Amino acid sequence: MIQLQQVSKAYTTSRGTVRALDGISLDVASGEFLAVRGASGSGKSTLLAVVGGLAQPTAGRVTVGGCELTQMSPSQRSQFRAEHIGFVFQMFHLLPYLNVVDNVLLAARSMTPEHKAYALELLDRFGLTERRWHRPAQLSAGERQRVAMARAMLNRPALLLADEPTGNLDDRNAGAVLDLLDQYHTDGGTVVLVTHHADAAARAQRTVTLEAGRFA
Ligand SMILES: Nc1ncnc2c1ncn2[C@@H]1O[C@H](COP(=O)(O)OP(=O)(O)OP(=O)(O)O)[C@@H](O)[C@H]1O
Ligand SMILES: [Mg+2]
Repeated sequence: MIQLQQVSKAYTTSRGTVRALDGISLDVASGEFLAVRGASGSGKSTLLAVVGGLAQPTAGRVTVGGCELTQMSPSQRSQFRAEHIGFVFQMFHLLPYLNVVDNVLLAARSMTPEHKAYALELLDRFGLTERRWHRPAQLSAGERQRVAMARAMLNRPALLLADEPTGNLDDRNAGAVLDLLDQYHTDGGTVVLVTHHADAAARAQRTVTLEAGRFA
């Protein structure tokens, strides 16, 4: 599902160049659940951004589902992302002035009755039916993250990239979000989960650890 070959990502700022990823190679099989660990600043979010086509590497090749992202134009990459990849972040990134259903439907490339029905089905599965007309400010952190998961899954992506999705949640809500990731994986999805937490990483089949942009 994912192939990284000698991928580097350098950020140049006024204070010099940071090698966030330093020539890493990685293969993730279709249907695999991979955890990525490592200290703050080790390159975890950069790795997800590169795999998801949100950031272009400075060097190397990135292939997802047989398509080489590093050969695509920015618009081809965003199209590919919308069709094949779901993202979940620590900070939820919900729009405050939209209700739950409309936040989930933001991910829809076109608004069809099927999309709307699937959004409601996901919200039901994630225990959010009662909350579906609420706005994010009216929800608990755990509920917000489940809305973000529903949005990430609306297009039935083959790959789900999750960056510290439990970072702002208590143990019970973190467990609920990890259960949803597990379910997605059991249904055949490929998961890459960035986490600082051992109990979250324990859900994965394999863990890799980054140290200063390289695998330890
Ligand atoms: N846009 C940017 N411009 C400059 N440097 C950046 C940028 N984004 C990240 N970096 C640097 O690249 C390195 C890796 O950052 P990254 O965000 O990937 O780390 P991380 O492992 O996700 O850390 P955390 O656990 O704190 O989220 C860090 O040294 C960071 O300061
Ligand atoms: Mg990060």
